[in-house]
Amino acid sequence: MSAIDYSQKIPNNVDLKGDKRLQRALERWQPDYIQWWRDAGPTDFNEKDVYLRTAVSVDRDGWAHFDYVKMPDYRWGIFLTPYEGQRKIGFGDHMGENAWDQVPGEYRNWLRRLIVTQADTEPASVEQQRLLAHTAPSLYDMRNLFQVNVEEGRHLWAMVYLLHSYFGKDGREEADELLERRSGNADHPRILTTFNEPCQDWLSFFCFAMFTDRDGKFQLLSLAESGFDPLSRTCRFMLTEEAHHMFVGQTGVARVIRRTCEVMNEHPDACPSEFGAIPLEIIQKYVNFWASSSLDLFGAEVSSNSANFFAAGLKGRAYEDKYDEHSALDQGYEIQRWKDQKLVNDEVPLRNAMNEVLRDAYVKDNLKGIDFWNRECEKAGNPFRFTYPHRRFNRTIGEFAGVPFDTEGNPVSAATWAQKEHEWLPTPEDKGFVKSLMQQVTEPGKFAGWISPPLRGINGQEVEKPYVML
Ligand SMILES: [Fe+2]
Ligand SMILES: [Fe+2]
Repeated sequence: MSAIDYSQKIPNNVDLKGDKRLQRALERWQPDYIQWWRDAGPTDFNEKDVYLRTAVSVDRDGWAHFDYVKMPDYRWGIFLTPYEGQRKIGFGDHMGENAWDQVPGEYRNWLRRLIVTQADTEPASVEQQRLLAHTAPSLYDMRNLFQVNVEEGRHLWAMVYLLHSYFGKDGREEADELLERRSGNADHPRILTTFNEPCQDWLSFFCFAMFTDRDGKFQLLSLAESGFDPLSRTCRFMLTEEAHHMFVGQTGVARVIRRTCEVMNEHPDACPSEFGAIPLEIIQKYVNFWASSSLDLFGAEVSSNSANFFAAGLKGRAYEDKYDEHSALDQGYEIQRWKDQKLVNDEVPLRNAMNEVLRDAYVKDNLKGIDFWNRECEKAGNPFRFTYPHRRFNRTIGEFAGVPFDTEGNPVSAATWAQKEHEWLPTPEDKGFVKSLMQQVTEPGKFAGWISPPLRGINGQEVEKPYVML
């Protein structure tokens, strides 16, 4: 059953009307959600028509419908990849057993924690981005921002469905708290640090969508392997939507680079900042910041939680079926550690290194994006090359937290760090300069001077389309 029932207050493909209690509970949560959207979501644009895609089916082809809609009227709903018959658990101690349709009692707390942590990131990012439309470089970009925002809202719905449906009273309380925490709020912050970082300019937004949404992709990939089948099916459909977010990030940064290279070619003897473009060195610093902050989201390199989640069959590796062996027992994983002020090689049990294994896959995926950006430089004949900072750089969680490493991963002294930090991470001046360029452009088909137009519009439409009706 992949058709989505849109006649319901809450669109869904989980036969919500067949479970009145659950339906009532979610319908009670719905107005609180809308209130959260109005209080903490994009400011001032709720009455505007936006050209948005909405999920109308969970089929691989033709799952999305595009039309103008006011954001508060967006049909946020509950869509799971259809039940494909009895799945087997694919890893850990329960490998080969039937996947669970209900939460196994002994894993209830762990599962709830995994779901709440994932859920919390979804509204957090909407909050982080709430002011950005005021400085959108074009209607095309403003629309993309709103698309990402409504889909993060839908991802919150996806997780709240699991909490309401499978975790009883505790789940309902968690769902309420998801609307109460606020990104960056000192008293009631979001759970993970990166999701409390301010995202006040569009270069940050694009880097966020590139690096932080990609963390989301890998968390979802590992949860899509879960032995808890409703979680697996929920995550698999979320991944379909998530791809667009990384597209926005990767092509967004690429367009900034393209514009800068263009200006550099026009004015070879000047700094591009004099002509309103963002110097490539500043872009690299933003990359360093968001890339390193997002690396923290995978958690500590050596983690007993990650071992427990894997053993229990709750959280696997990304693309688990590509591995030959799925118990991860009696195997080691080579890791570097920081001991007595030195880097040392160590082998840890593979299960304890699952965070690092997921981080490996994530880093590899990011490197493709870096290559994509460097092709922009190559095409423009610009010798600058972007690099991905080493995973030890600027970390605040895990083995290397708080230890100064350069962007290539070499340990440096505190004095060197202090001296070099401004070359590696955005300075207040850099941020001030980027901020000074952030001026809203609202004429259809026009773009701010610091970014190139995209190669094509959304859903085969022209770039000039008024994607947001102001
Ligand atoms: Fe998401
Ligand atoms: Fe996302």
